Amino acid sequence: MSDTIVIIGTGYVGLPAALMLAKAGHDVVGVDINENIVRAINEGVLLIKEEDLQAIMDEPSVKANLRAQSTPCPGDVFIIAVPTPLDPRKKVADLSYVRSAIESILPYLRAGNLIIVESTIPPLTCREVITPMIEEATDLRVGETVYLAHCPERILPGDIFHEIVHNDRIIGGVNVETCEKAADVYRSFVKGEMLLTDDVTAEFAKLMENTYRDINIALANELNAVAETLGIDGQAAIDLANRHPRVNILSPGIGVGGHCIPIDPWFIKEVDPANSNLIFTSRLINDAMPGRIAAKIRRAVRGIAKPRIVALGAAYKPNVEDTRESPAVAIVEILRADGYDVAHYDPLVEGMGYGSLAEVCQGADLVAVLVPHAALMTELDASDAAIRAAMRTPEVVHYQ
Ligand SMILES: NC(=O)c1ccc[n+]([C@@H]2O[C@H](COP(=O)([O-])OP(=O)(O)OC[C@H]3O[C@@H](n4cnc5c(N)ncnc54)[C@H](O)[C@@H]3O)[C@@H](O)[C@H]2O)c1
Repeated sequence: MSDTIVIIGTGYVGLPAALMLAKAGHDVVGVDINENIVRAINEGVLLIKEEDLQAIMDEPSVKANLRAQSTPCPGDVFIIAVPTPLDPRKKVADLSYVRSAIESILPYLRAGNLIIVESTIPPLTCREVITPMIEEATDLRVGETVYLAHCPERILPGDIFHEIVHNDRIIGGVNVETCEKAADVYRSFVKGEMLLTDDVTAEFAKLMENTYRDINIALANELNAVAETLGIDGQAAIDLANRHPRVNILSPGIGVGGHCIPIDPWFIKEVDPANSNLIFTSRLINDAMPGRIAAKIRRAVRGIAKPRIVALGAAYKPNVEDTRESPAVAIVEILRADGYDVAHYDPLVEGMGYGSLAEVCQGADLVAVLVPHAALMTELDASDAAIRAAMRTPEVVHYQ
């Protein structure tokens, strides 16, 4: 049976879900407060750069089943996919977008509706924030007359279409009936397994995934710092340790970026600070990395009068165009705040491109490679001689 599914927030997470549900035959309404996004969806234009998704958007059945508007409307299922950023001062989740998304659907809720939260949220948000909002504003009872589930999204930007279909899906319902209803929605397009659980476990499991990454990156960064103190090559030592059959240490880097890994661990600390010491320390270690790298760059140009630095790579990780929470950007900001002359380029980031590397490195004293995009590495190798010939001091250092 096809339902009317109203998706609140049609960004990186909401729009792919909207497309897949429309393709599966549901009547889908995408709701976004950003008028440009609403217009783009109605004109069949994809603002997310993903080729496979554009092909889906172009399918006649998707065009027929999907429409966008700036305010909600009645439906059978409401999916919440709005941002949950970190409050930068308090280091807790800013739930203002989730609250206003829930407020916006309250007038349209009716008995039998299912509300699915896909946004990443701290544990207990469904029970202690969303449920009271619904029960205080309406006669509906969560788990009895309306259903509430947390079904976190785990897609990898760059491979959204494959992952949204094939990843296993955590379905965290406030009761078994809710889980079954939510799983039915995803079964219409997901080929991965449905993992049914309760709402708090689902909220926590999603945060664990990114926290696991953050802690392991912090370990690699800490081990590398010790290696530097010892005057040895940290990566070489890690490679040797990883020859143990049950050891897999990650690679050290310049810090952790993107809008998930540096943010989600804070949502765990927020609900239980007394038991989050390792998580908190790992956040501090990774957040300190841009400062450590900036210090290394300062040391590299020590003694040069008015050094000219060229920083290459601004995205938060290799081979993406996204600069959210990017440690490379933080490093350049630190150096510029200290008065250094830093030119910053990234061939993948809009507005940061260049003609040729030899051209932008003209007269430079240090080329600091911050993000090893594959295309950038190929170009660096191919123009190594030309770059060094163009520089005032031919120093090219890879900091990742
Ligand atoms: N992008 C990812 O790869 C990813 C992966 C897993 C989880 N998440 C989580 O999913 C959530 C959404 O992330 P995203 O990357 O899609 O964010 P996004 O910024 O790309 O999209 C969110 C959209 O919600 C809209 N919006 C905000 N408030 C609204 C409201 N009240 N009503 C209607 N629309 C509203 C915004 O205009 C925006 O278009 C976040 O909690 C994020 O942490 C994201």
